[in-house]
Amino acid sequence: MTQGAPRTPARRTLLGAAGAAAFGASAGLAAGAGTARAAETGRPPGHGRGYRSLPVPTVIAHRGASGYRPEHTLGSYRHALDLGAHVIEQDLVPTRDGHLVCRHENDITGTTDVADHPEFASRRTTKSVDGVTYTGWFTEDFTLAELKTLRAGERIPGTRQENTLYDGRWTIPTFEEVLRWADEEGRRRGREIWLHVETKHPSYFRSIGLGLEERLAKLLRRHGRHRAHSPVFLQSFEPSSVQRLSKLVDSPLVVLLSGASTRPWDFVEAGDPRTVADLVTPAGLRWIASYAQGIGPTLDLVIPKDAAGRLGTPTTLVRDAHAEGLILHPYTQRNENTFLPADFRRGTDPAAYGDAFGALERYFATGIDGVFSDNPDTALLAAEDFRAR
Ligand code: G3P
Ligand code: CA
Repeated sequence: MTQGAPRTPARRTLLGAAGAAAFGASAGLAAGAGTARAAETGRPPGHGRGYRSLPVPTVIAHRGASGYRPEHTLGSYRHALDLGAHVIEQDLVPTRDGHLVCRHENDITGTTDVADHPEFASRRTTKSVDGVTYTGWFTEDFTLAELKTLRAGERIPGTRQENTLYDGRWTIPTFEEVLRWADEEGRRRGREIWLHVETKHPSYFRSIGLGLEERLAKLLRRHGRHRAHSPVFLQSFEPSSVQRLSKLVDSPLVVLLSGASTRPWDFVEAGDPRTVADLVTPAGLRWIASYAQGIGPTLDLVIPKDAAGRLGTPTTLVRDAHAEGLILHPYTQRNENTFLPADFRRGTDPAAYGDAFGALERYFATGIDGVFSDNPDTALLAAEDFRAR
């Protein structure tokens, strides 16, 4: 099964259709011819087939295999590939000197050993980011050379004690390093290495002179990942960031959607009164489909929970998004009880695994196109079960 929902005839769709036709014409070529072409182009076989060629449900390794390794490290990304994940996620924030690095947030207090570096003690500060106050150390106050002296560590050691085994093993990767790594892994493994790349706090970073989108587009172009059929999704919780990216590159785009009552931060700054509840209406989805190819809703927008935290009845979001030609990549599936719906928890230890397969079965049955997972091996097995049914 591949991504099969209809799409609106937007500019990107037309480009995609042309590319698909071109691929269709060559798909009958013998594997040897593909290998020869790969040797000519320096790209792995299959490169450039587009997101509709990905297996469905697509398993996206959330921050790498973050259920097993400290998130956003080359070790976490490599382990995700070894487990068979279809796509590897990166979240991007900038350094003071304008490099893009892979961190879930600019506050690096909880995911690095920065607090153990006396030479950086004076950098600890308090700031407001998207209306929330944080105290800690922030990527935009460090040069890349300084950040590279730090080591990454497990974010939730109380829940994932085993992962602390790897604390200090890896540095913070730059996105350019990840692109080079993905190219190398693609050649080594003979397959496309798909990435799913998020711009974090784009309005905030633009306001301090560190706009993310142009920097990201430049790197994607340098690595030939800026085309409609390139193996990369770009995503953001701020629709204006996705719209800006749509003018810079042709890569498939995904608008992330948080809880129904929330407002994207760029809407807050622009005085746009719409909430996520407005964006998941047919009209809101049509607006998203005018510039993006997919949505990344929180799983609760797909199947809401009741007051006791148990899964309820699915919403119409999957049907409505597909009707607008949008794919759905909801977030985030995790195996531990503490993250599972109440009816899929097992035992009383919050850090123990619950019935992740049972929960995934319910989510996949809704028709979602993929899922972000901290445990890609679990999600892959569940996807296999789902396809076999
Ligand atoms: O980008 C999809 C998912 O990762 C969104 O949640 O907060 O983990 O970036 P977050
Ligand atoms: Ca993310």
